Amino acid sequence: MNKAMENDWQTILSLGAEGGSITLLGKEQHSGEWVFKKAVNEMNFDDLEDESFQPTKSTEKVCTLKSPISNRGNEATSWEKAIKLLDHYPWPMLNPREVHPAFRKRVWSALQKEVKGKYGDRINSYRLKKWSSLCLPEYSPKVDTLSKWLQNSTHTTILTGAGMSTESNIPDFRSKEGWWNNIDPRTVATTDALRDDYDLFHEFYSMRINGLKQCKPNIGHDILADWEQKGLIQAIATQNVDGFHTLAGSKNIYELHGSIHKFRCGNCAMSAEEEDFLSESNCKYCGGKLRPGVVLFGEMLPEESWRDSLTHIQKSDLVIVIGTSLEVYPASQLPKMTNGKTVYINAEVDTTHHNFDLMIEGKAGEILKLVDELV
Ligand code: OAD
Repeated sequence: MNKAMENDWQTILSLGAEGGSITLLGKEQHSGEWVFKKAVNEMNFDDLEDESFQPTKSTEKVCTLKSPISNRGNEATSWEKAIKLLDHYPWPMLNPREVHPAFRKRVWSALQKEVKGKYGDRINSYRLKKWSSLCLPEYSPKVDTLSKWLQNSTHTTILTGAGMSTESNIPDFRSKEGWWNNIDPRTVATTDALRDDYDLFHEFYSMRINGLKQCKPNIGHDILADWEQKGLIQAIATQNVDGFHTLAGSKNIYELHGSIHKFRCGNCAMSAEEEDFLSESNCKYCGGKLRPGVVLFGEMLPEESWRDSLTHIQKSDLVIVIGTSLEVYPASQLPKMTNGKTVYINAEVDTTHHNFDLMIEGKAGEILKLVDELV
């Protein structure tokens, strides 16, 4: 860092409102740490109570600071303290003009906290769009496109995979921390495993069932349930067995790989209770071994779920695929069976494998939230 740079205060966050502005300034020290201070121009916050408030031309132009920049005593020495400097102002409701590239993620998460807390619905979609375009420029045009497609679509089907639930702290299968990187699926998730090594099979599914009890649906599940209620989406086909779409309130769900909350005898197929399975009881009708109602490798998908998913996909003009590696047949074929637009939202996007109209790399919950803010 050269001397000139060291003396430079940079704009971290610049906000405007009718007749004024607030600027959070930051300076990087030799050590790499930042110090921050705020500069406030005269402001009139009255307009902000009006939900339809949109910045006028005069608030769009860059304001020169009238008030003196605060002196050293008022400098904040950490980001947490810096954002607190804005506590006295309704800053999320002001017009964001500039966000320093190195602080985009931090500003965005501070904004999310405020939105969850004090401001909620008071921030209009125009304002949120501006915030997201400044804080998350990599997502902005894609999220915009998806929100338009979603609003214009008359039939939308969602296809989800394990990545939908990782933000609920449930591992997926094929990521680094995923189940199949720690356990060979052939030893626990096949019809052979059920027959030949019931103890390990039982241990694996008991662990997953008990693990689920500590988790709950995340914001992504909630948003999809809300979209269904608003008529924005018509069906969810899921490879997940956790039941979280149902728990979040979605109704039209097709569980392609069954449910880990249903139990039956592996021999006579009579239904059983979770507690019987967990306590390793035998079937009370035939004495056979109990199992969860998940699809094991080597088994057919539930016919009705498959047929209905396919019907929805075929009549969709938009199919949104979320959090799946699309490595497991036949669910992997569903996105190819629509004439509608296809969207892939995934933490890792591999352009060579998936022929989607739109691909958005990111966490399901975060992306759905951005889209939700625009619809
Ligand atoms: P995978 O583990 O194969 O794929 C999950 C995908 O989600 C990966 O590509 C991750 O990068 C991505 N991902 C993880 N967290 C995410 C997040 N927060 N947001 C967005 N994407 C995220 O899981 P599935 O494709 O669901 O079947 O696996 C399909 C089937 O394989 C499962 O239903 C299961 C398994 O064997 C059976 O057990 C029959």
